[in-house]
Amino acid sequence: MSGSEPKNLSVSSSTGSSSDESVSSSTGSSRRKNIVDDQTNPSEAATAKDGTGKAEDAATKDVDNKKGTEDDEKNKITKKEDLNEKPSAPVRITIPRADDLASLLSVNLRTDDRIKFSWSKITVSTRPGLKMCGLRGKTPKKEILKEVSGVVRPGEILAIMGADGSGKSTLLNTLLFRNMGKLEVSGTRIANNALVTPNNLTALSGYVQQDDLFILGLTVREHLCFQAMVRMHCGLSKEEKWERVEEVLDELELRDVQHTLISSASNEVEGISGGEKKRLSFACEVLTSPSLLFCDEPTSGLDSHMASSVIDVMVKLAEQGRTVLTTIHQPSSLIFSKMDQLMLMSEGRTIYLGPASNALLFFNKCGFECPSNYNPADFFIDALAINPADPERSRKKVEKIATKFKESRVGIDLDNEIENDLKYLALSEETVSRSPYKVSWATQFIALCWRNATNVRRGGWIVLVRVLTNMLTAISFGSLYMGIDSSTLSGAVSINGGLFLLVAVLAFSNIFLTINVFNPEIKIFFREHFSGMYRVDTFYLAKVIIDLPISLVSNIAFLLVFYALLGLSWVKFPVVLVIVICTVISVSSFGFMIASIVATVDVGLALTPMMVMPLMLLGGLFISINALPPYTKPVRFISFFFFAFEALTSNQWEDTQGISLHCPKNFSITANITDCGTVDGAELLHQQGLEMGHKWIDAGALLVLAILFQIIGFIGLSIRARKR
Ligand SMILES: Nc1ncnc2c1ncn2[C@@H]1O[C@H](COP(=O)(O)OP(=O)(O)OP(=O)(O)O)[C@@H](O)[C@H]1O
Ligand SMILES: [Mg+2]
Repeated sequence: MSGSEPKNLSVSSSTGSSSDESVSSSTGSSRRKNIVDDQTNPSEAATAKDGTGKAEDAATKDVDNKKGTEDDEKNKITKKEDLNEKPSAPVRITIPRADDLASLLSVNLRTDDRIKFSWSKITVSTRPGLKMCGLRGKTPKKEILKEVSGVVRPGEILAIMGADGSGKSTLLNTLLFRNMGKLEVSGTRIANNALVTPNNLTALSGYVQQDDLFILGLTVREHLCFQAMVRMHCGLSKEEKWERVEEVLDELELRDVQHTLISSASNEVEGISGGEKKRLSFACEVLTSPSLLFCDEPTSGLDSHMASSVIDVMVKLAEQGRTVLTTIHQPSSLIFSKMDQLMLMSEGRTIYLGPASNALLFFNKCGFECPSNYNPADFFIDALAINPADPERSRKKVEKIATKFKESRVGIDLDNEIENDLKYLALSEETVSRSPYKVSWATQFIALCWRNATNVRRGGWIVLVRVLTNMLTAISFGSLYMGIDSSTLSGAVSINGGLFLLVAVLAFSNIFLTINVFNPEIKIFFREHFSGMYRVDTFYLAKVIIDLPISLVSNIAFLLVFYALLGLSWVKFPVVLVIVICTVISVSSFGFMIASIVATVDVGLALTPMMVMPLMLLGGLFISINALPPYTKPVRFISFFFFAFEALTSNQWEDTQGISLHCPKNFSITANITDCGTVDGAELLHQQGLEMGHKWIDAGALLVLAILFQIIGFIGLSIRARKR
């Protein structure tokens, strides 16, 4: 260690008066001081880079919500005037480059890549909504976070603690621009004095979320390998990635379960335990050794030994110069002692943010003494708890602590430090252009195809069950048509019914199946997409490409049995097969479209019949197209039922031209059917408003519809992904 701490790490330690010696910010972190600093002083580097005052000109801020931001803007403009009086600060945000790969792994982070992260006046509230009962008035706006500010420096672990519902997860989500769809957010996030945008933050950070989400059907090792493939920088070789996977397996003691399924695809077999899932989530985020690590209760549900292992990994990352923010639930005294900084929250407000080692003394000064042999973490939560029996008294007590903190040396220093960061806030070009993705489009696509294929392979028996049930369904439906004489008019009409039934079975089974399988994965997709793992298009394409052929297998099994029972000519079968493949592609695409747009499977399943039934009615069987009201006729051009039915019947009856059909005894329809007893295929189709000879046009139309549905689905998913 050089012994000289980078200036940007000690911006405020010299400010403020020392009226309260015992609660001083100067303690900082001993870990921070131990970071090997073998690089040039970042402040000096920045001064050289920034000497022209570019940063000042580009000063801007991050605004999630325009409301409430004008004051901040004014502040910044006035502060800009005295910029020259302040030491220069680094403005670069970097992620390790391909030629600096060593810094991705276990060595100390280069000074340039270290991140001081601060946030100012983060306010989050719910949007007022319509009352569900009574339907009058609006539900009031609820403030979840109230002007929360804070800072965490490289080499530090900042532990955020507070009672349940105090806003810890909301703060982390907000800092990371996650899950904010239904909330109003304002405030500023700053990294190394530069504006933080969602993309550059994603590129720099890892986030272990409170709830674990996994694609089922993969083993622990497979899951980690997939994560390594898409999360670790493209400049790393496969061997280096696998080496890191091995390292993480050992660090988080997952080696014994490396070949165990996370959970089987159909959930019928229990996979790894809850604690192991938690460690696996953590392992995925630390694979890349991010410069900035956010963790939401990473130790919840872990035994004390495992919790300690997880914290040790965090300590190791911090020692390498990385920045760690973590919320933590009921830490043991040992774990608590490993935290450098402590942020205590109550009802969405900051009550204390300073050295963890000084917090007890601070509370003591506020008149709250921790009993001896008592876990300080428990003591803080008890002290800040709102007693439901007397909430006002509890709130006054918490208010008193918060006020004392604001007036303390640490509180004043914190405010000054954040003020200082805001002054230097600059939007560098680099900040804007940062891509969140670490690997190329092709690598993302291959990795996703591999994961989907592995998942399908694991659930191979499900495909087999699907094939068998489809065959049984085909037998039960097809047996009704056995022995039908297609040379009679009634037989021909029945065969048409059978062909329509074939289309209906393909449509409903594939649409429902696609919604059921695809929609639940979208939640995981959002999380992984926002973690910078892959793009919307790679995810969508990989899903469609792997799932469609699987759907085809079970559908062809149905077709074979059903077609045999209908007793139709095998000469015509190849064309039927092509039409059925086009139909499956079209209806599955319709399923992908619905699944991409709706929020949950339930909504999708409820919507589907409403959307599909009109298309079915326009298919040409139930009502002759000729009999439809004129304004409804064009709608048939978005009906896959219409195109598939016309193609199948066209193929079936095209050779019947000139061949007479026997007329049943009481046959009375005369229109367009010449004398009782004869009809040709074209006339038979014409009765339904269908055209003979359109089978290839219809097959093409089915594929065009498929493309249309996929485009709508893709756009829907992209719009949802933008909302975060
Ligand atoms: N989208 C939302 N809409 C409405 N209320 C919300 C929303 N998100 C969070 N809240 C509310 O905000 C408060 C803080 O929630 P948050 O999840 O941040 O708490 P927490 O401190 O992480 O709690 P825990 O320790 O239980 O995880 C809670 O009262 C919660 O109900
Ligand atoms: Mg939480």
